[in-house]
Amino acid sequence: MSGQKLYFSKNWNLKEYNIKAYMASGGYEGLRMALKMDPKDIIETLKKANLRGRGGAGFPTGVKWSFMNRNSGKQQYLVVNSDEGEPGTFKDRYIMERDPHQLVEGMIIAGYTLGCTVGYNYIRGELVQAIACMDRAVQEAREAGFLGRNILGSGFDFEIYNHPGAGAYICGEETALIESIEGKKGQPRMKPPFPAAFGVFGMPTTVNNTETVSAVPHIIREGVDEWNKYGSPKAGGTKLYCISGHVKRPGVYELNHNITLKEIIHDVCGGIRDGKQLKAVIPGGASVPVVRANELDFMMDFDDPKRMGTMLGTGAVMVMDETVCMVRSLLNLLRFYHHESCGQCTPCREGTGWLEKVVRRIEEGNATREDVDMLWGVANNIEGNTICALGDAAAWPTKAFVTKFKEEFYDHVEKGRCPFDPIYRREPARTQPGPYFA
Ligand SMILES: Cc1cc2nc3c(=O)[nH]c(=O)nc-3n(C[C@H](O)[C@H](O)[C@H](O)COP(=O)(O)O)c2cc1C
Repeated sequence: MSGQKLYFSKNWNLKEYNIKAYMASGGYEGLRMALKMDPKDIIETLKKANLRGRGGAGFPTGVKWSFMNRNSGKQQYLVVNSDEGEPGTFKDRYIMERDPHQLVEGMIIAGYTLGCTVGYNYIRGELVQAIACMDRAVQEAREAGFLGRNILGSGFDFEIYNHPGAGAYICGEETALIESIEGKKGQPRMKPPFPAAFGVFGMPTTVNNTETVSAVPHIIREGVDEWNKYGSPKAGGTKLYCISGHVKRPGVYELNHNITLKEIIHDVCGGIRDGKQLKAVIPGGASVPVVRANELDFMMDFDDPKRMGTMLGTGAVMVMDETVCMVRSLLNLLRFYHHESCGQCTPCREGTGWLEKVVRRIEEGNATREDVDMLWGVANNIEGNTICALGDAAAWPTKAFVTKFKEEFYDHVEKGRCPFDPIYRREPARTQPGPYFA
């Protein structure tokens, strides 16, 4: 944590998150510098900065940008993925609500580098405040001459459209998102062709996460060496981590990539609340495998979590103390994936339903040991057999929960009930209001 520098939070302590405040702290300097650079050099800079995609997979951004052919002669599009649907993730909303201009600036630099004249920012529909902040930021940038025709006399034209989604998790998947922008039902496309060849309206398109694009102006302005000081060997810069659950101080924190999960929970967030013991942590959003309390000694970058069989994902850390029933928390995740499956691929449409049904049976005390063992097989039949990764996102946590907390699953079977709090206990239903309501 020492030596850490805040990139994303510079304006957070200012009362107004407007363009004046942003420019007072060096905002739009990165754009001025970028417009004087050769786009190829900007891509090389991002490669050297080890900027990895913050949408979940950690794909190197410089490499992704190099897939776009600037001279295709076609209309090209930039798409920012602000759908932020991964449960536990709430960082992109903070960027848009608290410091929207860094995203606007990042989008203009990306548009210039990739040869796009149009950028869509696809924002989760429920984030009304974020949409309002982004609309205001785009208008301010236009009035200041950073958007529109001939930006800062460079001859480059660029326009941004904020596009609200309708709250479907699947529309965060980049090709479903593209379908949704086109006005169609949000269902993932088969790949290849990838968006760089066939994206929005069939034109070359680059899709990046909000946090990824927001990092670009800082890299250009501060320089690669400065940026890399705060990362780990294979992941440059700082990262926004969203910590929720049973810690004393939950929230969004901007931290170095080389911090460990243990340090985040105990040093940054003050440890476990109410004097309870830590039981389990989901380190990167609902889709990534859970780890036990004794498996926290890994760096929160894109590679080190693999040592514990897990992933950084979106950096959404969900902390569970000893009072949490692991069967019920898995049921909660599976209900989500079953509900959000778009239904296009049979293994995901049917498999997520089966997973939910079987885990519910275990939680309610109506299952056998064979049911517990069957979960692994059902998950395996989904994994890798679907067009997009939503199926994997349901299979990975299932396998990890069952493997790491198998005894707790069997305990539900043996006792014929949930050993935790009484919601699912087989007790006679209360038909009369108790004295509390009298
Ligand atoms: C089911 C599903 C949901 C996703 N939801 C999001 C999301 O809400 N936001 C996001 O940035 N990426 C999401 N992704 C990942 C995107 O498909 C894509 O990889 C990402 O936007 C690329 O940006 P990056 O390279 O900057 O990480 C999702 C993927 C899947 C399979």
